[in-house]
Amino acid sequence: MDRILIVDDDRSIRELLSMHLEERGFGVDSAATGAEGFAIAEKSTPAAIVLDMRLPDASGIDLIPELKKRAAEAPVLMITAHHDMATTILAMKAGAFDYIHKPIDIQAFDVALDRALEVRRLSKGTDYLSVEGNRAFKMDDIVGTSPPMQQLFKDVGRVAASRTMVLIQGESGTGKELIARVIHSYSAPQKPFIAINCSAIVDTLLESELFGHEKGAFTGAVQAKLGKFELAEDGSIFLDEIGELSQNLQAKLLRALQEREVERVGGVRRIPIKARILAATNRDLFEEVKAGRFREDLYQRLKVVTLSLPPLRDRPEDVPILVEHLLMKINQRLHKNLRRVPREVLEKLQKRAWPGNVRELENVLTRAAVLSQGDMLLEEHLLEQKPSSRPPALPPIEAPRDDDRILTLDEVERDHISRVWNMTGGHKGKTCQILGISRPTLERKLHKYGLIRTDS
Ligand SMILES: Nc1ncnc2c1ncn2[C@@H]1O[C@H](COP(=O)(O)OP(=O)(O)OP(=O)(O)O)[C@@H](O)[C@H]1O
Ligand SMILES: [Mg+2]
Repeated sequence: MDRILIVDDDRSIRELLSMHLEERGFGVDSAATGAEGFAIAEKSTPAAIVLDMRLPDASGIDLIPELKKRAAEAPVLMITAHHDMATTILAMKAGAFDYIHKPIDIQAFDVALDRALEVRRLSKGTDYLSVEGNRAFKMDDIVGTSPPMQQLFKDVGRVAASRTMVLIQGESGTGKELIARVIHSYSAPQKPFIAINCSAIVDTLLESELFGHEKGAFTGAVQAKLGKFELAEDGSIFLDEIGELSQNLQAKLLRALQEREVERVGGVRRIPIKARILAATNRDLFEEVKAGRFREDLYQRLKVVTLSLPPLRDRPEDVPILVEHLLMKINQRLHKNLRRVPREVLEKLQKRAWPGNVRELENVLTRAAVLSQGDMLLEEHLLEQKPSSRPPALPPIEAPRDDDRILTLDEVERDHISRVWNMTGGHKGKTCQILGISRPTLERKLHKYGLIRTDS
């Protein structure tokens, strides 16, 4: 039977809690002062300690470290008054596990206590994955121990040495862009890496984005503009979502690839392509060809070297190392310290279907990091949100940021979309109107940033 120690000078609180805890089957010790609390903590080794913030002989905060030491690191629940917010924060910093406001709501008390006992139970076992903060890692590190990923690393090594075109296939969130960046960084690290998302912009604009345009080529073309192929120089150009390319642009791209030359819109000059071409798609291009949506001759050209990224559900053995890797990244970004993942929690993660693959795993862990208080990942932090008829308000993934850190475009975009989405109460039409993007684009971005679930 677990024992709980209550340290509070208010007799009515001691009695109320003792009665309740005994009813729940706990053994209870109580103390009215800090000194008494110390003595009991040592003798009875409580499973958890309930500690009042103000005691006659000491401030509760000052007692936390010593109490925990005497009670074999039992978790401490502080009892605080509402106006004690500043001291509450200090108490959490001093190592309290959680706090309960006065007047005590017994249900909230039970939730906090159960959680404390659960964390203690998990901490006692040594069976958890430990995230080592001091291990050096590069941001673009790609990890995986499963046979298909090991094979993929070899293939990446092989193609990185050459300058051949590479087609990267895989479901959404499997790491296609990451692979493209890794190939680039192993083959031409000092040269530009120019990425363009073929589905994000309308056809006419995409053409001038890719190939550039001459001054006066169309209304608004007040200046000549370099295309992405030119900007990439002898680095790499990454054609993301190539399966979305219109028939018209497929034909133009094919011609450019055949002749290794591009022509700016409205221009006559032929400009040689020096960049290495990497392309990615989450569609099955072969199927697209059969369905007549993708040109077979372009497909033949692109697919010479194809790398396929397996979905995460087919390689559950990669989940532990991914969790470790992603948590390190997330801890650093959010200034969090989530370092332990109990084996049973890890096993639950390995059993999930992950329709959004590694990106979804990253989003789930980010949310858990935001919600968690201690260094242990708990199952309750991973609970899937229930789909409701109304689109849910977005999860609060607003991360604390270094003031002087420059945000990436993706971060700014994500924040902005989530603000507008919340503003319109999750109305897709209005959101599109305000943002000036099409519905498919909005949907893609909502999925990309994990703002709505893939299966919703
Ligand atoms: N094997 C891996 N090791 C480490 N991180 C990974 C791995 N695979 C994916 N990631 C991470 O998961 C996230 C999604 O990866 P990425 O953007 O490359 O996916 P994608 O296949 O391009 O997705 P989409 O089709 O939606 O564009 C990124 O943050 C990436 O760093
Ligand atoms: Mg991508």
